[in-house]
Amino acid sequence: KEITVFCPATIANISCGFDVLGLALDAVGDEMTVRKTAEKGIRIKKITGQDLPQDAEKNVAGIAGMALLEKSDYQGGFEIEIDKRIKPGSGIGSSAASSAGAVWAMNELLGQPFSNLELVQFAMQGEKLASDVAHADNVAPALYGGFTLVRSYNPLDIVSLPTPPELVATIIHPQIEIRTSDSRKILKTTISLKTGIQQWGNVGGLIAGLFKNDYDLIGRSLKDYVVEPIRSILIPLFGDVKFNAMEAGALGCGISGSGPSIFALSKGMEAAKKVAQSMHETYSGIGIPFEVHVSRI
Ligand code: HSE
Repeated sequence: KEITVFCPATIANISCGFDVLGLALDAVGDEMTVRKTAEKGIRIKKITGQDLPQDAEKNVAGIAGMALLEKSDYQGGFEIEIDKRIKPGSGIGSSAASSAGAVWAMNELLGQPFSNLELVQFAMQGEKLASDVAHADNVAPALYGGFTLVRSYNPLDIVSLPTPPELVATIIHPQIEIRTSDSRKILKTTISLKTGIQQWGNVGGLIAGLFKNDYDLIGRSLKDYVVEPIRSILIPLFGDVKFNAMEAGALGCGISGSGPSIFALSKGMEAAKKVAQSMHETYSGIGIPFEVHVSRI
């Protein structure tokens, strides 16, 4: 009748994989309770932690849930309570956590009539509300766990990728809000063949590195020639955070999703904590509040 789920934060793009690569964090996320109701439709009963719309038509969890109900022969409805710990506009998949969590919980309560791929399609409707584009690179890892690749959007094809056991993520979230829709508008719509070659070399390298547990190859591949040069101007001290994280031993460092969060991947917890320390030091005293998280994947 009722289920409580952890809705993980996610890092999309992972440098080279704009709109196609993502990973789910183990230690950062929301909690959501979903209950079956005799009354039809979706009701957002309570949201704690953040100030978000409770009207189901304006809330990503509501929209994703309605997409599921539309394809279901279930005659009742659901009510949702969200303990929202991931701040909206943080770049670590706040909207995806709500969309994915809602449909995952509903599917469990209905006895799993839908596949993970179908759940991604429902959750993408929530992403469309949040960012104008139904991108799947946050909702896919939130639903599948670990690393995922969106090989194709049409038809939707999601590939689950392995997670090397010692890989740990560090994330700094400067508390300024960057709306995904805004940070998509500033991107160029074309790239040169030369840039394409660099970018897909790295996408292939990163995926090969995940399969081979080759941490150096993963590090060499965490590069982005398409999006980072443009979006990084929106993030105060991005260059310094990246330089210092690399000096502290990170394998690679880039923008998390559409920013402003910055992520680094490291080999081992000790290295990830050193990177966290360097991020702390870089952002201290500049007058922008921030949070730093260390999480397994
Ligand atoms: N791929 C999306 C973007 C992710 O970078 O715009 C947003 O979290």
